Amino acid sequence: MTEHNVYRSSTYAPVNIAVIKYWGKRDPTLNLPTNSSLSVTLSQSDLRTHTTATCSASYTSDSLLLNGKDQDISTARTQACLRELRTLRRKLESESSHPLPELSSLPLKIVSENNFPTAAGLASSAAGFAALVRAIADLYELPASPTELSRIARQGSGSACRSLFGGYVAWNKGEKDDGSDSVAYEVAPASHWPDMRALVLVASAEKKDVSSTSGMQTTVKTSSLFPARAEQVVPKRMKEMEKAIREKDFETFGRITMAESNSFHATCLDTSPPIFYMNDTSRAAIRVVESLNQAAGKVVAAYTFDAGPNAVIYYLAENEAEVAGTFKCILGKKEGWEGQKGKAVTAKKALNEGVKVAAETLMGGISRVILTAVGNGPMRSEEHLV
Ligand code: ADP
Ligand code: DP6
Repeated sequence: MTEHNVYRSSTYAPVNIAVIKYWGKRDPTLNLPTNSSLSVTLSQSDLRTHTTATCSASYTSDSLLLNGKDQDISTARTQACLRELRTLRRKLESESSHPLPELSSLPLKIVSENNFPTAAGLASSAAGFAALVRAIADLYELPASPTELSRIARQGSGSACRSLFGGYVAWNKGEKDDGSDSVAYEVAPASHWPDMRALVLVASAEKKDVSSTSGMQTTVKTSSLFPARAEQVVPKRMKEMEKAIREKDFETFGRITMAESNSFHATCLDTSPPIFYMNDTSRAAIRVVESLNQAAGKVVAAYTFDAGPNAVIYYLAENEAEVAGTFKCILGKKEGWEGQKGKAVTAKKALNEGVKVAAETLMGGISRVILTAVGNGPMRSEEHLV
């Protein structure tokens, strides 16, 4: 029997949660958006995808195993990523001055694990496609920058292009029909503003009702609020948000984050048939944040919701006692406070009246919390899953 080499490379990739939302495509095949967006990459100490990409002549076909289950790799999105990466590898093989193994023609076996619920509104598709693209690019030893890889990951899932970078990341919508300028770039590394914290309130770890992909397409077709959002509201906010991040201005960062989440969910409600991603629990989380900000007389916490009811609450480390302490007072019995970060938070003793009203609903609707922070981009790893 012939011995075949198995080539492999592994990576960890982060989740990102947008503060300026991507919602709407001008080209659904290439995942070209109708507006630019901006996100915070979250720490991989808490939420991460681990992916090993391997290739070998001993494999019969391409395959993808996610959390132990075979995935359909024939989807147009996954195929687009594999095709682009193979094309770059083929170019490298043909242009190299010394012979390189022809990895581009070998079947791929990809094995991936998410350490958090998949398809539950916690951005698994972003971390997942970023990890897949980074791991294969490393396997192929491509001299590609994160920006070039973001162009490829975007075709797997739009928001994935922002997970190729750490810190504060923008995705430029681009103008060209071929999408070559629709790429992500780093606004600032995590080290620029390392005090950014994120508290995730997991309202539901169930699969969501309306996928982002189909939801945003229906919004584009039917919402009368949508054109103003894409053409006027977001471009202005992108500029303000980049400035707020450069100047570490939490007040502006928080104000825009909340306004953006509300604007995005308003276009969802304005979709026909209407899309409801937030529920009573989500609205209770908003009430607590509003009440905290009112009591502080400034913005100390900012909520945002993606295509699901989970709340992500951004705040600065200096306000941890106030913000996380309040949520610990309400949700201290839920899973998620047992780690070092959770133990370091002191639950507030007394809640103000505004918070008390929402506390019961939150208690009933939240299953767990995740305490995390801004973090770095994908990391190569020598821990292989194959
Ligand atoms: P989420 O809110 O978690 O992003 P989506 O429904 O938008 O949920 O995306 C989930 C899909 O993303 C999965 O069904 C799978 O196709 C893809 N995905 C998630 N994790 C990974 C991964 N680690 N590797 C490859 N693809 C992944
Ligand atoms: C609400 O990136 O999941 O999280 O490109 O169709 O895969 P596809 O959509 P996806 O949409 C994310 C939508 C969002 C906002 C955001 O992350 O910017």
